[in-house]
Amino acid sequence: MNGRELLRSMKDAGSPRGMRTVRSAWRRRRTDERDLPARGAERARVPGAVSGAEPLAGGGIVRFARAELRVWVAVGGAVFWGWDGDGPSPSYALSGDPPEPDPRALLEPDKEGGWRVVSERVTVTVSRHGAVEVATPGGVVLRRELPPRWWEPVDGNGPARWAQRAEVAADARFFGLGGRASGPRLREGVYRLWNTDPGGAFGPGDDPLYITMPVQLVVADAGTHLAFYDNSWDGRVVLKEGEEGAGSGHDRPGTSEVRMDGGPLRCWVLLGTPARVLHGWTALTGVPAPPPSWALGPQHARWGFGSAEEVRRIVAGYRERGLPLSALHLDIDHYDRHQVFTVDRRNFPDLPALAKELRAQGVRLVSIVDPAVKAAPGNETYESGSAAGAFVRDARGDDVRGEVWPGECVYPDFTDPAVREWWGGLYEERLEQGFSGVWHDMNEPVSFAPFGDKTLPRSARHALDGRGGDHREAHNVYGLTMAAAGYEGLRRLRPEERPFLFSRSGWAGMQRYGGTWSGDVATDWPGLRASLSLVLGLGLCGVPYSGPDVGGFTGAPTPELYLRWYQLGSCLPLFRTHAAIDAGRREPWEFGDEVLGHARAALLERERLGPYFATLAQLARLTGAPYVRPVWWGAPEDRALRDCEDAFLLGDSLLVAPVLEAGTERRAVRLPRGRWYDTATGTAYEGPGQILLDAPLSRIPVLARAGAVIPVLGATDSDGAVGGIELEVWRPAPGRTGGGLVVRDPGDGWADPEVERYTSRLVGDEVVVERVTDDGVAPPELPVRVRG
Ligand code: NOJ
Repeated sequence: MNGRELLRSMKDAGSPRGMRTVRSAWRRRRTDERDLPARGAERARVPGAVSGAEPLAGGGIVRFARAELRVWVAVGGAVFWGWDGDGPSPSYALSGDPPEPDPRALLEPDKEGGWRVVSERVTVTVSRHGAVEVATPGGVVLRRELPPRWWEPVDGNGPARWAQRAEVAADARFFGLGGRASGPRLREGVYRLWNTDPGGAFGPGDDPLYITMPVQLVVADAGTHLAFYDNSWDGRVVLKEGEEGAGSGHDRPGTSEVRMDGGPLRCWVLLGTPARVLHGWTALTGVPAPPPSWALGPQHARWGFGSAEEVRRIVAGYRERGLPLSALHLDIDHYDRHQVFTVDRRNFPDLPALAKELRAQGVRLVSIVDPAVKAAPGNETYESGSAAGAFVRDARGDDVRGEVWPGECVYPDFTDPAVREWWGGLYEERLEQGFSGVWHDMNEPVSFAPFGDKTLPRSARHALDGRGGDHREAHNVYGLTMAAAGYEGLRRLRPEERPFLFSRSGWAGMQRYGGTWSGDVATDWPGLRASLSLVLGLGLCGVPYSGPDVGGFTGAPTPELYLRWYQLGSCLPLFRTHAAIDAGRREPWEFGDEVLGHARAALLERERLGPYFATLAQLARLTGAPYVRPVWWGAPEDRALRDCEDAFLLGDSLLVAPVLEAGTERRAVRLPRGRWYDTATGTAYEGPGQILLDAPLSRIPVLARAGAVIPVLGATDSDGAVGGIELEVWRPAPGRTGGGLVVRDPGDGWADPEVERYTSRLVGDEVVVERVTDDGVAPPELPVRVRG
């Protein structure tokens, strides 16, 4: 315990909760001291010299003096390599069986005495000492893994640690690693792989956070690739960007060194354009679950609404001011003394009736769901879970206890399929209470502690789907497997509806079950920036649906900060205001009339773009492309775009340049190639290059790509009836064509909507828009409105 921790524990020990927390932290430490033997002497190992090879489907096995490497290329071009018998399965990341090996990929000796696998899309070269190089068919090397190193316990007890260093081009930029507040571009630093509740509130300097993933997306002149070290253990990634030798030929490559405390040494590498890479990644780890349509609308939350009356007051506040609202979220304060799957009947006497009443006004209720269950006789979840043996135990077979909101708690072991099924069934209670969606929280998982790690003991036992193991391996997949339990449960209970689920913690593949949100982001300008970094980084890891607590989680934002957050939030997939119980208000009318007016404009624009968001949700499902993409998405070779972190593309058609600094009236915007229109003024600008745009308090700059065909809602008519879908078409640049995809809102069910394709071109001065079908082109059935 360091000095700060000691001080905190003394302070905490002053209250009953504090005393329990201190006790729980000590218990955790003692359990590990007892059940997790200290590491003894270790022996280092490297593969040594190559000794032979054996061809197998898609590649083969290359043998070395002290290790062997299985390497193959899958149909579709994904590369897999694994040392010492580590294959692609079992894996919590993969959504099903690994892809088939490409039968045409062949293992052959190379001139340097190593081996290589040659396939249509990629060449993998294994050197004589076990370096693995991934190159394009043209021979451009994208990634070179140096021979790995292992440290094995001499007495054979315990896992082997390993380190794997890779080199990338000197100009390469790193992205991903889950949700990182300091990104989206990940600069030189050590990034831990251990899902963590930072406690309090976080800003750009805090790392790690709730979602870590050994997934890195690397963008360089030579090409884009994604590397995924499929291993859920605690680890660290040390990144260093490279340096170019200014034509001297002495470039220093960028490096990534992954160091893991145990578990398999295996990796997937995908290469191609960013769009291709994300498509391949979601083919491997699962297509993003499209949220029901209402979850693309504006949502409002708060920890501490306190009562049904307060909920009614808030919803009425939206209605009276003509502000659309799609969902309202209830936090732990609606539980009976913070216990999951219960209701505080004094303050929420008839939740089903409240839900019905709100639903009639077009507002859904969403419920928080915490994994920790109060360990108290009489608590139904505790009793049924105990009877089913559902809770995580220590090596002696006793339930592991921790301290969370309700007090002393036990934790379901979601890595046990029977536990997932039991837990999923419990969501019936939430549905009966009238909730339409769930918000998973505290699932890193958290156990409060004034010192040490705020989670379960590392020695805690887990089923790991039949393999058995401990928390060192299960920790990072706890949130992911909880999401699996919730999602599958909701699907069983309401098979006709797409579940709405988002989760604070998770891991590679979590998009199969839903999205996430920023967690407890600090209420200041750096917090605003961090919240954009998270959304962009997670999107590049395959998790397209996320968004921040608009206004920040803690304290009270200035009206300006609130409004800028609101404007950014309105362009992100999950658009939700939220705050802590002791934080200031977050309703748009709490910041004065000027802010209210501008917030209303942002809300209405979000509503107008509803069909575009619905399209982006479906395209994420079909292609893995996130709604929110870095500006280099279509032009990764543009270095200036690669370094641009303060703007993003919303789908193919829009470029959003949020205001991230106080006092901004104008801001620089870096444009990708082509013509772009300022949607506020209609002025056209030519990219690539940088322009200055007005960013008055009333709006943030949003640009539309020339030629774009964007589905929007038509204007409300004089009787107040909402208009239908229209195509907003931005005039193509002379000599250029444009287009866009439209996927109509499939509602809340599972209908597989058609993807409509439109093109736009200039004929003389006239803009011609056509729908492209299998039978040729036809005039669009939807009304067209030309702009620009
Ligand atoms: C932590 C979550 O991050 C936050 O959003 C929530 O309000 C609190 N837990 C209370 O449930």
